[in-house]
Amino acid sequence: MIPKETVDKIIEEARVDEVIGDFVALKKRGVNLLGNCPFHNEKTPSFTVSPAKGIYKCFGCGVSGNSVNFIMDHEQMSYPDALKYLAKKYNIEIQEKELSSEEKEKIDKKESYYLVSQYAKEQFIRNLHETDEGKSVGLSYFKARGISDEMMEKFGLGYSFEERNHFTKIATDKGYKKEHLIGSGLIAEKNNRVYDRFSGRVMFPIHNMSGRAIGFGARILQTNKKSAKYLNSPETEIYHKSDVLYGLYLAKRSMIQQDDCFLVEGYTDVISFHQKGIENVVASSGTSLTPGQIKLVKRFTPNITVLYDGDAAGIKASFRGIDLILKEGMNVKVVTFPDGEDPDSFARANTSAELEEYIEENKKDFINFKISILLDDAGNDPIKRAGLIKEIVQSIALIPDTIIRSVYTQEAATLLKIEEQTLVNELNKIRRNNFDKEQKHKPESTPPEPDYMVPPPDFIPPEYGVHTPTSSSGFPIKPIEKAPQYPNNHQEAYLLRLILKYGHHEIVLQNENYEEEKEQGIEDCQPSYQITVAQMIIQDIREDDLSFDNPHHQSIWDAFSNKFSEGEIPTEKFFLQSSEADLVKEVIEITEDKYVLNDWKKHSIYVTTEEEKIKLAIVVALHRLKLGKVKQQVSEINAKLESNEFPEEINDLLMHLSLLNQAKMTLSKILGRNI
Ligand code: CTP
Ligand code: MN
Repeated sequence: MIPKETVDKIIEEARVDEVIGDFVALKKRGVNLLGNCPFHNEKTPSFTVSPAKGIYKCFGCGVSGNSVNFIMDHEQMSYPDALKYLAKKYNIEIQEKELSSEEKEKIDKKESYYLVSQYAKEQFIRNLHETDEGKSVGLSYFKARGISDEMMEKFGLGYSFEERNHFTKIATDKGYKKEHLIGSGLIAEKNNRVYDRFSGRVMFPIHNMSGRAIGFGARILQTNKKSAKYLNSPETEIYHKSDVLYGLYLAKRSMIQQDDCFLVEGYTDVISFHQKGIENVVASSGTSLTPGQIKLVKRFTPNITVLYDGDAAGIKASFRGIDLILKEGMNVKVVTFPDGEDPDSFARANTSAELEEYIEENKKDFINFKISILLDDAGNDPIKRAGLIKEIVQSIALIPDTIIRSVYTQEAATLLKIEEQTLVNELNKIRRNNFDKEQKHKPESTPPEPDYMVPPPDFIPPEYGVHTPTSSSGFPIKPIEKAPQYPNNHQEAYLLRLILKYGHHEIVLQNENYEEEKEQGIEDCQPSYQITVAQMIIQDIREDDLSFDNPHHQSIWDAFSNKFSEGEIPTEKFFLQSSEADLVKEVIEITEDKYVLNDWKKHSIYVTTEEEKIKLAIVVALHRLKLGKVKQQVSEINAKLESNEFPEEINDLLMHLSLLNQAKMTLSKILGRNI
């Protein structure tokens, strides 16, 4: 563990322009520096470094972060490794904090597992390239499969000897401990004897997100043998299969750039795609898809495209995995390959352009895809059709976003030629059931609001980006491209920007109750009082008990609000130096200058001082956010009323609606006056 003071010192000293300057040629451009982005290919530089803020941001591909993030992403290092790298560069001594002996043992053990895995990887690579057996058996196999030298190096492909305990012998000779070799899954123990887990196989190292080897997939060379085609490392303390995706560390950057992730089944699919220049691809390899793996993808993009082999059995088997993706609120597309082909063979047989074109043209929205597969299956058999309807609704019920769910319900109704209301009823039943099931595991949550038929188009505010599907033929209806997740995203970001940028500013507010307070004889009442911007915003948000829709925003808010309660007002800089890369990136996004203070003159409002400008900006930002939230609630209630589902609730709903409408009018008026 690196002590906090040392971390602070490293971050303080590591000047972003110097750190990045080691890797990128930077030219001065105003107060910033500009260069070609090292994370994507570009001809005109759009990679900007701000020494003042200690951050970088690429306006081409959107990457951003501080010095530490840069080293982590560029050099594929873990957070502590990046800190150590910077400490070395700046001659800062790291005196690692004393750990308890238990902690130490645990870290030492894991570190040893990483080390032996790295050693094994290197050894297997040497076997492949530098020995007769490796060359004639392993290397010729890879070559015959058309895998290029460049890809062998990129993926660290190797070979394990036929001899049953070759690796055990040389690794123990090298001084690696038997317990660590066993613990990392490289050798196995049986009847008091140890032997290599992998022998006579080509080796595919599996890496964690920062590129460290954690396990192996090993393929037998002749598939006619009785043993399994692939043998994989067992679950170990550094290899948790359900949280690992093959190829992720090489795909991250491209996943962000392409805003999509291709999910394939095998090691070779991933490698062949890279060889064709497509890098946003990962494989679940060997396990069925898990929620943990889906969450990993979600960190980089909300979109997944699942690439299947051709056969129908395989397709149906994967429906379960895809349901998990829907449940995470991600957008799922599906591409199938011609019969007998898998992504690997298809990629090898076609050019990059053909491959890309094939994927683009064959991408189908998952729900529509599932419906058409099941429809084919059921034919005209009414019982089968009923089963199929249930199955489709089960998938739709998993989608967390109400609006996306209702669009799919509508679409499914059209495709299945069945009343939408029937589907909605079925949907609500299933959601209620799912909830009850989950309830058993975590009590004290509120049951789901039932869905209603989709409100007419003008009830859906345009910023949701959902266009009611109106194709006259009924289908195919244009799928939703991006989850319209946070309707108040902009307002939230703007308010956070104000508090981050101007939190310390003192402003003077009039005491509206001054006369009253004086009459009541309150002693220290003042006609006006001075508070900080942070205090003003925090009080207001806390008073109305507002929360943020975007979870990133909420976590920035929580961190700010906690610091504030401890008597501090954190600045933009505080967040930019956080060890949580996601947070840093979100704060960079929010504090970017595209959200500038309004130019009030355009609205014939003349504010002269900076303080007045800020004050006005805050008032407007707070009211806009509230107006957004109120509008959201109004359309929800309107939708409920439209549906006529709960006649006994109508009075309550109407009452609530009238209160909201009043609030809406008041807020609109205030904003009208100020804008
Ligand atoms: N797999 C496994 N164990 C097996 C078979 C398969 O772990 N006995 C995993 C591997 O990760 C493999 C993936 O499932 O990459 C897909 O299996 P398959 O399609 O059979 O293999 P391919 O990737 O097509 O491998 P190859 O082209 O080398 O035959
Ligand atoms: Mn294959």
